[in-house]
Amino acid sequence: MTTPITHQQIVLGVTGSIACYKAADLASKLTQAGAAVDVILTDAAARFVTPFTFQAVTGRPVYTDLWDERGHIRHVQLGEQANLLVIAPATAHTIAKLAHGLADNLLTVTALAARCPVLLAPAMDGGMYEHPATQANIRLLQERGVTMIGPVSGRMASGLTGLGRMVEPAELLAHIRLKLGENGVLRGRKLIITAGPTQEPLDPVRYLSNYSSGKQGVALAQAALDAGAAVTLIAGPLQVAVPLGVTHIPVLTAEQMKNAVLAAIQDADALLMAAAVADFRPAHQAEQKIKKTDQGPEMVIELTRNPDILAAVKAQREETRRPHLVLGFAAETQDVLAYGQEKLIRKGLDFIAINDVSRPDAGFAVDQNQITLLGREGVIAEIPLQDKSAVAAQIIHYLAQALV
Ligand code: CTP
Repeated sequence: MTTPITHQQIVLGVTGSIACYKAADLASKLTQAGAAVDVILTDAAARFVTPFTFQAVTGRPVYTDLWDERGHIRHVQLGEQANLLVIAPATAHTIAKLAHGLADNLLTVTALAARCPVLLAPAMDGGMYEHPATQANIRLLQERGVTMIGPVSGRMASGLTGLGRMVEPAELLAHIRLKLGENGVLRGRKLIITAGPTQEPLDPVRYLSNYSSGKQGVALAQAALDAGAAVTLIAGPLQVAVPLGVTHIPVLTAEQMKNAVLAAIQDADALLMAAAVADFRPAHQAEQKIKKTDQGPEMVIELTRNPDILAAVKAQREETRRPHLVLGFAAETQDVLAYGQEKLIRKGLDFIAINDVSRPDAGFAVDQNQITLLGREGVIAEIPLQDKSAVAAQIIHYLAQALV
Protein backbone atom coordinates (compact mmCIF):
# COMPACT_ATOMS: atom_id res chain seq x y z
CA MET A 1 0.00 0.00 0.00
CA THR A 2 1.40 3.38 -1.04
CA THR A 3 1.78 6.13 1.56
CA PRO A 4 3.60 9.47 1.39
CA ILE A 5 6.70 7.62 2.72
CA THR A 6 6.83 5.16 -0.20
CA HIS A 7 9.73 5.81 -2.63
CA GLN A 8 10.97 8.78 -0.62
CA GLN A 9 14.65 9.49 -0.13
CA ILE A 10 15.13 10.00 3.59
CA VAL A 11 18.38 10.89 5.31
CA LEU A 12 18.33 9.69 8.91
CA GLY A 13 20.96 11.36 11.06
CA VAL A 14 21.73 9.60 14.33
CA THR A 15 23.65 11.35 17.10
CA GLY A 16 25.13 10.07 20.34
CA SER A 17 22.40 9.33 22.84
CA ILE A 18 21.23 6.20 24.58
CA ALA A 19 18.10 6.57 22.42
CA CYS A 20 20.21 5.44 19.40
CA TYR A 21 18.78 1.94 19.72
CA LYS A 22 15.35 3.38 18.90
CA ALA A 23 16.80 4.94 15.74
CA ALA A 24 17.52 1.44 14.43
CA ASP A 25 13.83 0.63 14.83
CA LEU A 26 12.87 3.88 13.08
CA ALA A 27 15.25 3.08 10.19
CA SER A 28 13.63 -0.35 9.92
CA LYS A 29 10.10 1.04 9.99
CA LEU A 30 10.89 3.66 7.33
CA THR A 31 12.46 1.01 5.10
CA GLN A 32 9.44 -1.26 5.54
CA ALA A 33 7.22 1.69 4.60
CA GLY A 34 9.05 1.82 1.26
CA ALA A 35 11.57 4.64 1.79
CA ALA A 36 15.21 4.59 0.73
CA VAL A 37 16.91 5.41 4.01
CA ASP A 38 20.48 6.76 4.07
CA VAL A 39 21.79 6.71 7.60
CA ILE A 40 24.54 9.04 8.80
CA LEU A 41 26.00 8.24 12.21
CA THR A 42 28.13 10.62 14.24
CA ASP A 43 31.17 9.13 16.00
CA ALA A 44 29.32 9.20 19.31
CA ALA A 45 26.28 7.43 17.79
CA ALA A 46 28.52 4.69 16.39
CA ARG A 47 29.63 3.96 19.97
CA PHE A 48 26.04 3.17 20.93
CA VAL A 49 24.94 1.21 17.84
CA THR A 50 27.22 -0.04 15.07
CA PRO A 51 26.82 1.08 11.45
CA PHE A 52 26.28 -2.55 10.56
CA THR A 53 22.96 -2.60 12.44
CA PHE A 54 21.64 0.25 10.29
CA GLN A 55 23.06 -1.28 7.13
CA ALA A 56 21.27 -4.52 7.94
CA VAL A 57 17.87 -2.88 8.47
CA THR A 58 18.05 -0.42 5.56
CA GLY A 59 19.89 -2.60 3.05
CA ARG A 60 21.96 0.45 2.11
CA PRO A 61 25.45 1.74 2.91
CA VAL A 62 25.74 3.69 6.15
CA TYR A 63 27.84 6.86 6.35
CA THR A 64 29.98 7.89 9.27
CA ASP A 65 33.10 9.63 8.14
CA LEU A 66 33.40 12.99 6.43
CA TRP A 67 36.98 12.21 5.55
CA ASP A 68 36.57 9.05 3.51
CA GLU A 69 36.04 9.51 -0.21
CA ARG A 70 32.41 8.47 -0.08
CA GLY A 71 31.74 10.99 2.65
CA HIS A 72 33.16 13.88 0.71
CA ILE A 73 31.18 13.32 -2.42
CA ARG A 74 28.08 12.12 -0.64
CA HIS A 75 27.39 14.98 1.74
CA VAL A 76 26.25 17.28 -1.04
CA GLN A 77 24.41 14.53 -2.90
CA LEU A 78 22.67 13.20 0.19
CA GLY A 79 21.59 16.65 1.25
CA GLU A 80 20.39 17.74 -2.17
CA GLN A 81 18.59 14.55 -3.15
CA ALA A 82 16.78 13.98 0.14
CA ASN A 83 13.05 14.57 0.42
CA LEU A 84 13.42 14.77 4.20
CA LEU A 85 16.20 14.99 6.75
CA VAL A 86 15.35 13.39 10.08
CA ILE A 87 17.74 13.59 13.01
CA ALA A 88 16.69 11.13 15.70
CA PRO A 89 17.95 11.17 18.35
CA ALA A 90 19.19 14.77 18.19
CA THR A 91 21.51 15.60 21.10
CA ALA A 92 21.85 19.03 22.72
CA HIS A 93 25.29 19.29 21.12
CA THR A 94 24.09 18.59 17.56
CA ILE A 95 21.12 20.94 18.05
CA ALA A 96 23.57 23.66 19.11
CA LYS A 97 25.76 23.01 16.07
CA LEU A 98 22.78 23.10 13.68
CA ALA A 99 21.48 26.31 15.24
CA HIS A 100 24.79 28.02 14.58
CA GLY A 101 25.52 26.52 11.17
CA LEU A 102 28.58 24.56 12.34
CA ALA A 103 29.68 21.83 9.96
CA ASP A 104 32.29 19.61 11.57
CA ASN A 105 31.08 16.11 10.69
CA LEU A 106 29.27 14.41 7.82
CA LEU A 107 25.84 14.92 9.42
CA THR A 108 26.17 18.66 10.11
CA VAL A 109 27.74 19.22 6.69
CA THR A 110 24.84 17.33 5.06
CA ALA A 111 22.34 19.36 7.10
CA LEU A 112 23.85 22.59 5.74
CA ALA A 113 23.69 21.27 2.18
CA ALA A 114 20.10 20.01 2.57
CA ARG A 115 17.24 21.97 1.01
CA CYS A 116 14.49 19.62 2.14
CA PRO A 117 12.33 19.85 5.29
CA VAL A 118 14.15 18.96 8.51
CA LEU A 119 12.62 17.12 11.44
CA LEU A 120 14.44 16.73 14.77
CA ALA A 121 13.64 14.37 17.64
CA PRO A 122 15.61 15.70 20.62
CA ALA A 123 16.87 13.30 23.31
CA MET A 124 18.86 14.44 26.30
CA ASP A 125 18.86 14.76 30.05
CA GLY A 126 16.01 16.89 31.37
CA GLY A 127 18.38 19.53 32.76
CA MET A 128 20.17 19.88 29.42
CA TYR A 129 16.85 20.24 27.61
CA GLU A 130 15.62 22.96 29.93
CA HIS A 131 18.90 24.90 29.81
CA PRO A 132 18.35 28.37 28.30
CA ALA A 133 21.08 27.69 25.72
CA THR A 134 19.28 24.57 24.41
CA GLN A 135 15.91 26.31 24.50
CA ALA A 136 17.30 29.27 22.54
CA ASN A 137 18.86 26.94 19.97
CA ILE A 138 15.59 25.07 19.54
CA ARG A 139 13.67 28.32 19.08
CA LEU A 140 16.17 29.48 16.47
CA LEU A 141 15.82 26.26 14.51
CA GLN A 142 12.02 26.39 14.73
CA GLU A 143 12.06 29.97 13.42
CA ARG A 144 14.01 28.62 10.45
CA GLY A 145 11.27 26.08 9.76
CA VAL A 146 12.73 23.02 11.45
CA THR A 147 10.06 20.75 12.98
CA MET A 148 10.75 19.56 16.53
CA ILE A 149 9.07 16.33 17.60
CA GLY A 150 9.23 15.90 21.37
CA PRO A 151 10.98 15.26 23.64
CA VAL A 152 8.49 13.58 25.97
CA SER A 153 8.50 13.01 29.72
CA GLY A 154 9.52 9.73 31.26
CA ARG A 155 12.33 7.75 32.78
CA MET A 156 15.76 8.88 31.60
CA ALA A 157 19.05 6.97 31.31
CA SER A 158 20.15 8.69 34.55
CA GLY A 159 17.31 6.95 36.37
CA LEU A 160 15.56 10.26 36.95
CA THR A 161 12.21 11.17 35.46
CA GLY A 162 12.04 14.27 33.33
CA LEU A 163 11.38 15.88 29.97
CA GLY A 164 14.02 14.66 27.54
CA ARG A 165 13.06 11.22 26.23
CA MET A 166 12.99 10.72 22.48
CA VAL A 167 9.52 10.19 21.00
CA GLU A 168 8.86 6.50 20.20
CA PRO A 169 9.67 5.35 16.64
CA ALA A 170 6.04 4.55 15.76
CA GLU A 171 4.99 8.08 16.63
CA LEU A 172 7.96 9.55 14.76
CA LEU A 173 6.89 7.52 11.74
CA ALA A 174 3.44 9.12 11.95
CA HIS A 175 5.01 12.60 12.08
CA ILE A 176 7.19 11.78 9.08
CA ARG A 177 4.15 10.54 7.14
CA LEU A 178 2.30 13.75 7.97
CA LYS A 179 5.24 15.94 6.94
CA LEU A 180 5.76 14.12 3.65
CA GLY A 181 2.04 14.26 2.84
CA GLU A 182 1.79 18.02 3.38
CA ASN A 183 2.26 18.96 -0.26
CA GLY A 184 -0.24 16.48 -1.68
CA VAL A 185 -3.05 17.31 -4.12
CA LEU A 186 -5.42 18.31 -1.31
CA ARG A 187 -3.05 20.85 0.25
CA GLY A 188 -5.08 23.83 1.47
CA ARG A 189 -8.35 21.86 1.39
CA LYS A 190 -10.48 21.21 4.46
CA LEU A 191 -12.30 17.88 4.71
CA ILE A 192 -14.86 16.89 7.32
CA ILE A 193 -15.17 13.15 7.82
CA THR A 194 -17.60 11.30 10.09
CA ALA A 195 -16.93 7.82 11.40
CA GLY A 196 -18.08 5.13 13.78
CA PRO A 197 -21.45 4.42 15.33
CA THR A 198 -23.61 6.77 17.37
CA GLN A 199 -24.73 5.82 20.88
CA GLU A 200 -28.28 6.64 21.86
CA PRO A 201 -28.75 6.59 25.65
CA LEU A 202 -31.61 4.76 27.30
CA ASP A 203 -30.65 5.50 30.90
CA PRO A 204 -27.35 6.51 32.60
CA VAL A 205 -25.82 3.05 32.04
CA ARG A 206 -27.38 1.77 28.79
CA TYR A 207 -27.52 2.78 25.15
CA LEU A 208 -28.56 1.61 21.68
CA SER A 209 -25.84 1.43 19.06
CA ASN A 210 -24.51 -0.67 16.18
CA TYR A 211 -21.43 -2.72 15.23
CA SER A 212 -19.62 0.01 13.27
CA SER A 213 -15.90 0.06 14.21
CA GLY A 214 -15.08 3.36 12.49
CA LYS A 215 -12.35 1.66 10.42
CA GLN A 216 -13.51 2.96 7.03
CA GLY A 217 -13.98 6.56 8.22
CA VAL A 218 -10.64 6.59 10.02
CA ALA A 219 -8.97 5.15 6.90
CA LEU A 220 -10.53 7.98 4.88
CA ALA A 221 -9.14 10.50 7.39
CA GLN A 222 -5.65 9.00 7.00
CA ALA A 223 -5.91 8.98 3.19
CA ALA A 224 -7.04 12.62 3.18
CA LEU A 225 -4.12 13.60 5.44
CA ASP A 226 -1.77 11.68 3.14
CA ALA A 227 -3.06 13.85 0.30
CA GLY A 228 -2.26 17.01 2.30
CA ALA A 229 -5.78 17.98 3.44
CA ALA A 230 -6.68 19.49 6.81
CA VAL A 231 -8.96 16.87 8.31
CA THR A 232 -11.62 17.11 11.01
CA LEU A 233 -12.96 13.75 12.15
CA ILE A 234 -16.34 13.84 13.87
CA ALA A 235 -16.77 10.41 15.34
CA GLY A 236 -18.72 8.24 17.71
CA PRO A 237 -16.78 5.77 19.89
CA LEU A 238 -14.06 4.24 17.71
CA GLN A 239 -12.37 0.85 17.86
CA VAL A 240 -9.30 2.14 16.03
CA ALA A 241 -6.78 4.89 16.79
CA VAL A 242 -7.25 8.36 15.33
CA PRO A 243 -4.38 9.22 12.93
CA LEU A 244 -1.86 11.80 14.06
CA GLY A 245 -2.63 15.17 12.52
CA VAL A 246 -6.42 14.84 12.55
CA THR A 247 -8.61 17.24 14.50
CA HIS A 248 -10.84 14.83 16.40
CA ILE A 249 -14.28 15.88 17.63
CA PRO A 250 -15.70 12.98 19.66
CA VAL A 251 -19.50 12.73 19.86
CA LEU A 252 -21.97 10.17 21.15
CA THR A 253 -25.46 10.77 19.79
CA ALA A 254 -26.78 11.47 16.29
CA GLU A 255 -27.98 14.86 17.53
CA GLN A 256 -24.47 15.76 18.73
CA MET A 257 -22.98 14.53 15.45
CA LYS A 258 -25.46 16.63 13.45
CA ASN A 259 -24.60 19.80 15.40
CA ALA A 260 -20.85 19.18 15.08
CA VAL A 261 -21.15 18.50 11.32
CA LEU A 262 -23.31 21.56 10.61
CA ALA A 263 -20.79 23.79 12.42
CA ALA A 264 -17.70 22.21 10.84
CA ILE A 265 -18.86 22.27 7.20
CA GLN A 266 -19.31 26.04 7.10
CA ASP A 267 -15.81 26.58 5.74
CA ALA A 268 -15.14 23.06 4.44
CA ASP A 269 -14.42 21.86 0.92
CA ALA A 270 -15.90 18.40 1.34
CA LEU A 271 -17.93 16.28 3.73
CA LEU A 272 -17.56 12.50 3.79
CA MET A 273 -20.32 10.86 5.84
CA ALA A 274 -18.94 7.43 6.72
CA ALA A 275 -20.60 7.26 10.15
CA ALA A 276 -23.21 4.61 10.87
CA VAL A 277 -25.75 7.00 12.37
CA ALA A 278 -28.49 5.33 14.41
CA ASP A 279 -31.77 5.99 12.64
CA PHE A 280 -33.73 5.81 15.91
CA ARG A 281 -33.14 6.67 19.56
CA PRO A 282 -35.07 5.87 22.73
CA ALA A 283 -37.96 8.31 22.91
CA HIS A 284 -37.35 8.86 26.62
CA GLN A 285 -34.03 8.89 28.40
CA ALA A 286 -34.50 7.79 32.02
CA GLU A 287 -32.69 9.99 34.51
CA GLN A 288 -32.06 7.06 36.84
CA LYS A 289 -31.04 3.51 36.01
CA ILE A 290 -34.09 1.54 34.90
CA LYS A 291 -34.78 -1.22 37.45
CA LYS A 292 -35.98 -4.57 36.19
CA THR A 293 -38.29 -4.77 39.21
CA ASP A 294 -40.13 -1.70 37.89
CA GLN A 295 -40.94 -3.60 34.68
CA GLY A 296 -43.19 -6.53 34.01
CA PRO A 297 -41.78 -9.72 32.44
CA GLU A 298 -41.49 -7.79 29.17
CA MET A 299 -40.15 -4.35 28.55
CA VAL A 300 -41.04 -2.19 25.56
CA ILE A 301 -38.69 0.57 24.45
CA GLU A 302 -40.34 3.31 22.48
CA LEU A 303 -38.12 4.76 19.76
CA THR A 304 -38.21 8.03 17.91
CA ARG A 305 -36.56 9.01 14.63
CA ASN A 306 -33.15 10.64 14.75
CA PRO A 307 -32.46 13.60 12.48
CA ASP A 308 -31.03 12.67 9.09
CA ILE A 309 -27.69 14.48 9.16
CA LEU A 310 -27.28 14.52 5.38
CA ALA A 311 -30.76 16.02 5.00
CA ALA A 312 -29.77 18.81 7.40
CA VAL A 313 -26.54 19.30 5.45
CA LYS A 314 -28.51 19.54 2.20
CA ALA A 315 -30.74 22.27 3.65
CA GLN A 316 -27.84 24.29 5.08
CA ARG A 317 -25.83 23.87 1.89
CA GLU A 318 -28.59 25.45 -0.18
CA GLU A 319 -27.97 28.64 1.83
CA THR A 320 -24.22 28.57 2.37
CA ARG A 321 -22.99 26.74 -0.76
CA ARG A 322 -20.55 24.86 1.50
CA PRO A 323 -19.15 22.29 1.40
CA HIS A 324 -18.41 22.06 -2.31
CA LEU A 325 -18.70 18.27 -2.33
CA VAL A 326 -20.66 15.82 -0.22
CA LEU A 327 -20.05 12.09 -0.25
CA GLY A 328 -22.37 9.66 1.51
CA PHE A 329 -22.22 5.94 2.11
CA ALA A 330 -24.93 3.42 1.50
CA ALA A 331 -25.16 -0.06 2.86
CA GLU A 332 -27.42 -2.14 0.63
CA THR A 333 -28.27 -5.81 0.34
CA GLN A 334 -30.15 -5.84 -2.98
CA ASP A 335 -30.60 -3.73 -6.14
CA VAL A 336 -27.44 -2.01 -5.00
CA LEU A 337 -27.11 0.44 -7.92
CA ALA A 338 -30.76 1.45 -8.08
CA TYR A 339 -31.03 2.08 -4.32
CA GLY A 340 -27.68 3.88 -4.37
CA GLN A 341 -28.75 6.18 -7.20
CA GLU A 342 -32.02 6.99 -5.47
CA LYS A 343 -30.20 7.75 -2.18
CA LEU A 344 -27.72 10.02 -3.96
CA ILE A 345 -30.53 12.16 -5.36
CA ARG A 346 -32.69 12.11 -2.22
CA LYS A 347 -29.81 13.07 0.09
CA GLY A 348 -28.43 15.76 -2.27
CA LEU A 349 -25.05 14.05 -2.66
CA ASP A 350 -22.34 14.47 -5.27
CA PHE A 351 -20.94 11.00 -4.63
CA ILE A 352 -22.17 7.88 -2.97
CA ALA A 353 -20.00 4.96 -1.94
CA ILE A 354 -22.16 1.88 -1.95
CA ASN A 355 -21.20 -1.32 -0.22
CA ASP A 356 -23.01 -4.54 -0.69
CA VAL A 357 -23.43 -5.70 2.92
CA SER A 358 -24.85 -9.03 1.82
CA ARG A 359 -21.18 -10.04 1.33
CA PRO A 360 -19.76 -11.48 4.58
CA ASP A 361 -16.20 -10.31 3.77
CA ALA A 362 -16.92 -6.61 3.20
CA GLY A 363 -18.45 -3.68 5.05
CA PHE A 364 -19.29 -3.54 8.73
CA ALA A 365 -16.56 -4.14 11.35
CA VAL A 366 -14.27 -6.15 9.05
CA ASP A 367 -10.91 -5.03 7.65
CA GLN A 368 -11.88 -5.10 4.00
CA ASN A 369 -14.40 -3.37 1.86
CA GLN A 370 -15.68 -3.34 -1.68
CA ILE A 371 -17.29 -0.19 -3.03
CA THR A 372 -19.15 1.03 -6.06
CA LEU A 373 -18.53 4.75 -6.31
CA LEU A 374 -21.40 6.59 -7.96
CA GLY A 375 -21.50 10.19 -9.09
CA ARG A 376 -24.39 12.20 -10.45
CA GLU A 377 -23.59 11.00 -13.95
CA GLY A 378 -23.33 7.33 -13.04
CA VAL A 379 -20.69 4.84 -11.93
CA ILE A 380 -17.27 6.45 -11.37
CA ALA A 381 -15.40 3.38 -10.20
CA GLU A 382 -15.81 -0.19 -9.06
CA ILE A 383 -13.32 -0.44 -6.21
CA PRO A 384 -12.58 -4.15 -5.72
CA LEU A 385 -12.42 -5.98 -2.38
CA GLN A 386 -9.30 -4.85 -0.49
CA ASP A 387 -8.15 -3.32 2.79
CA LYS A 388 -10.21 -0.36 3.92
CA SER A 389 -7.09 1.82 3.78
CA ALA A 390 -6.61 1.01 0.07
CA VAL A 391 -10.33 1.62 -0.58
CA ALA A 392 -10.04 4.96 1.24
CA ALA A 393 -7.03 6.02 -0.84
CA GLN A 394 -9.01 5.39 -4.02
CA ILE A 395 -12.08 7.27 -2.82
CA ILE A 396 -9.86 10.24 -1.89
CA HIS A 397 -8.19 10.01 -5.30
CA TYR A 398 -11.53 10.40 -7.12
CA LEU A 399 -12.71 13.08 -4.72
CA ALA A 400 -9.51 15.07 -5.25
CA GLN A 401 -10.02 14.93 -9.02
CA ALA A 402 -13.43 16.49 -8.56
CA LEU A 403 -12.13 19.17 -6.18
CA VAL A 404 -9.12 20.46 -8.10
N1 CTP B 1 -26.98 9.17 7.50
C1 CTP B 1 -27.21 10.42 8.05
N2 CTP B 1 -28.11 10.56 9.07
C2 CTP B 1 -28.81 9.52 9.53
C3 CTP B 1 -28.61 8.23 8.95
C4 CTP B 1 -27.70 8.10 7.94
O1 CTP B 1 -26.59 11.38 7.61
N3 CTP B 1 -29.68 9.70 10.52
C5 CTP B 1 -26.01 9.04 6.41
C6 CTP B 1 -24.96 7.96 6.58
O2 CTP B 1 -23.82 8.45 7.25
C7 CTP B 1 -24.66 7.56 5.17
C8 CTP B 1 -25.95 7.81 4.43
O3 CTP B 1 -26.71 8.66 5.28
O4 CTP B 1 -23.66 8.38 4.59
C9 CTP B 1 -26.76 6.60 4.11
O5 CTP B 1 -27.07 5.87 5.25
P1 CTP B 1 -28.05 4.61 5.18
O6 CTP B 1 -28.29 4.16 6.58
O7 CTP B 1 -27.56 3.62 4.21
O8 CTP B 1 -29.33 5.28 4.57
P2 CTP B 1 -30.72 5.63 5.13
O9 CTP B 1 -31.05 6.99 4.69
O10 CTP B 1 -30.77 5.40 6.61
O11 CTP B 1 -31.64 4.62 4.36
P3 CTP B 1 -32.06 3.13 4.63
O12 CTP B 1 -31.61 2.79 6.03
O13 CTP B 1 -33.53 3.17 4.48
O14 CTP B 1 -31.38 2.34 3.58
